[in-house]
This record gives sequence, C-alpha cells and structure tokens, in this order.
Amino acid sequence: MTAEIIDGKGISTQIKEEIAEEIKDLRKGRDTIPGLAVIIVGEDPASLIYVRNKKKACEEIGIESFEYHTDLHTPQEDILKTIHRLNQDKKIHGILVQLPLPKDIDTGLILEGIAPDKDVDCFHPINMGKLMTNTADLLPCTSAGIIELLDHSNVKIQGKRAVILGRSNIVGKPTALMLLHRHATVTICHSRTEEIEDITREGDILVSAIGVPRFVTGEMIKDGAIVIDVGINRINNKLVGDVDFDEVVRKASLITPVPGGVGPMTIAMLMKNTLTAFKRQICMK
Ligand code: GUN
Repeated sequence: MTAEIIDGKGISTQIKEEIAEEIKDLRKGRDTIPGLAVIIVGEDPASLIYVRNKKKACEEIGIESFEYHTDLHTPQEDILKTIHRLNQDKKIHGILVQLPLPKDIDTGLILEGIAPDKDVDCFHPINMGKLMTNTADLLPCTSAGIIELLDHSNVKIQGKRAVILGRSNIVGKPTALMLLHRHATVTICHSRTEEIEDITREGDILVSAIGVPRFVTGEMIKDGAIVIDVGINRINNKLVGDVDFDEVVRKASLITPVPGGVGPMTIAMLMKNTLTAFKRQICMK
C-alpha cells in the first residue's frame, strides 16, 4: 500500500481564502479590522520564522498584525505590562505569545495574563478548561488543524483507536481531548511509555508530536493507518518530521508530509481563532 498524501498547504490555503472572504464581508460598513498582536522574546531562530509566517498570513487575509519583539533579557513584569495594555486595546482582538519563552520567565504566569477572549492560542487555563468540557469556541491551533485535515480527508474519527505520541499542553493533550470529543478511543504515549511499539501498532490514527526526527518507523504502525506528523525537526538545515516518511508512506493509508502538512494548518487555525475573537468582540460593542 502507498499512502495518499494529505495536502495541508492546499487545505490551509482554501481555509484562509474563506476567512479572507468573511473578513471582507464583516468590514463592509465598519471601520474596524481584526487585529492580532504577536509577542516574541529573544531570537530563537525557529520562533522568528513562525512569527514571520503568522504575520504573512495576516497580511494575506486582511488581519492587521502588531509585533512586539523584545530582547532575551526582558523582565517578566515588562512582558506582563505589554499584555495588560493589549488586553485593553480595542484595535487588538487576538494576543499570542510565541513559545518557548526564555527559561527565567514563568510561562504559565504570562499565559494567564492574556484576556481569555483574546487568547487565540487557547493556552489560558480558562480556555483549556473549556476545551476539557467541550464548550470552547477558541481551540488550540495545531490540534484544530489536525481535526480539519482529518475532516477534509473524510476520515471517520468516531470509534477509531487514536494514538498520540507526546503529552504537551500545546499539542498532545489538546489533540487527545479533541479526538475524544469526536468519539475516538484515545491513548497518549510519552517518553516513559513502555513497549511503545505495541501501542502505536494499535492506532488507526497515529499523531506524532514529540520532536524526535524520524522516530516513527514503518514497523511501529498498523497497516493502513492514518499518520499525522506534527514534528518540525531540523537536520543539516533540512526539515524532517517525527515520522520516517519514506518507510511509513508504504504502509499507511493517509499521511501528512513535513513540510506542507500540519504546519500551515496551525497558522490557518490561528487566523480562524482571530476571526472568531474579532466577531465576538465587535458583537459585544
Ligand atoms: N510555539 C510552538 N508552537 C506554538 C504555537 O502554536 N503557539 C505559540 N504561541 N507558540 C508556539
């Protein structure tokens, strides 16, 4: 079997076009435009690329982006002050703090500083709690992107065994919850999981978000599995996923490539969340 490749880039372009149309309609007769503030601390090369791509997507679809780039040693209080100011700013409908933050900053405290209505990453504990109870309208971008990819590929999630590699707050845990809400039977594996291959081989849907290049081999997956690769790892300046694509593509039924799979979907979902936050805030005026 050779897997069909899920075109995350193409699907994300389609979603961004739909969002752009909606923004155009919403702006008719209004002098307000959706605004996204992006805070980045330091010079982490990957973060700089992600932020540049997010700003580019904003430009393409009619969201105004505001970048707050401060140096590595910015005191935590200054970042919090910026966030509190942006929470009150009527031109800003979404706020995102690019992660990871420098080690001496309390990431939890920073994320809790963002007004939940403007938390377009969905990392605030209130929004995470709503995700847990399936009452959220802002959803974590990567996980929401994964679900969109599965839906666009007409994958029936209900009743399937889903195995997630990775238990991060950003991807592993929210993806597990979202698949559970869609009635999959979900297992999370992590660095301490024993006999991991025995578990991954049971997955009808396998999502890998561990950041270990080519960790998932052909032997680790079920015949015909649907494989979603969230990994973005750099080897000799080349991007590779968590999945050994060349091996796994011969055994899976559907697979996401790296690059061009989950990555562009994360950005499309960020745009979607910014639009959702904008609509909610302009309706409350
Ligand atoms: N760093 C890695 N992924 C993400 C993300 O989705 N949002 C933010 N803010 N930072 C990240």
